[in-house]
Amino acid sequence: MMWKDSYRLGVERIDQQHMELFRMTEDLVNAVKAGAGVEEYQKALGFLKDYVVYHFRDEEAYQASIHYDGMAAHKEEHRQFTQTVLDYEKRLTGNGFDQKTMKDLAGTVTTWLIYHVVDTDQKIISGEKMTGEEKQFEQYADLFAHSALDVMETMAGLDQGSARLQTESPYAPQEDVFVKIQLVGDVKGEAVFGFSKELALRLLETMTGMELTEVDELVQSALCELTNISCGNAATALVKRGLQCDIKPPAVSQDFASDGNGTGVRIDTVSGRLEIGVVL
Ligand SMILES: [Fe+2]
Repeated sequence: MMWKDSYRLGVERIDQQHMELFRMTEDLVNAVKAGAGVEEYQKALGFLKDYVVYHFRDEEAYQASIHYDGMAAHKEEHRQFTQTVLDYEKRLTGNGFDQKTMKDLAGTVTTWLIYHVVDTDQKIISGEKMTGEEKQFEQYADLFAHSALDVMETMAGLDQGSARLQTESPYAPQEDVFVKIQLVGDVKGEAVFGFSKELALRLLETMTGMELTEVDELVQSALCELTNISCGNAATALVKRGLQCDIKPPAVSQDFASDGNGTGVRIDTVSGRLEIGVVL
């Protein structure tokens, strides 16, 4: 099952709604895995969209009722995600609900939802503002690597303590899943994440509670969103140091290679290897 009791906030009404959202997302993933038809896809997307809108409104009302001071930033996350779902709906309606786009949607929704509920929503209760703690790093790649480790720990219970970080040039075999993100602003260039097949599948299995054997579009789009969240957090940390950094949407890449001077970090975890390069 995708839902875990550790995701509870302790506000019954909101927890019930989150459970319902996870159930719908699980249905969506199952439908996509089974290759269900257009009709079922339409239904799953319709339910999800309506419920997302309903739930966000209710959760925002709750935040207002407790005078949560991180509400504006939280609302913006809701707005962006609603827009993502609407963009998918537009694409899917235009192309007849093809399997590949459905897998992209399912992977993106799964990753976004888990991270949002486990991290962002928990802050409503803890009263924490949406900013991370500040650490110092020698190289940009280290900052991005630590952001990725934080996200993987939050989402998939990956034990950071047992991860080994090494600065080195990438090994990056072809069967890895590569995700690239353009960075713009004072810190300008590209971040590349290379997930080993083993890590990719383990992360998704932990997140979905389902057995997966193939790195397909579902897995790829989930890793794109995970990279997006990690780089977003790293960019926020840079902004706090007075460096403007915006990120562009992630894209799957055929290889690790990037032009320019970069630094790389290899992370070995018990669940597999992740390599991160930052080229400026
Ligand atoms: Fe929320």
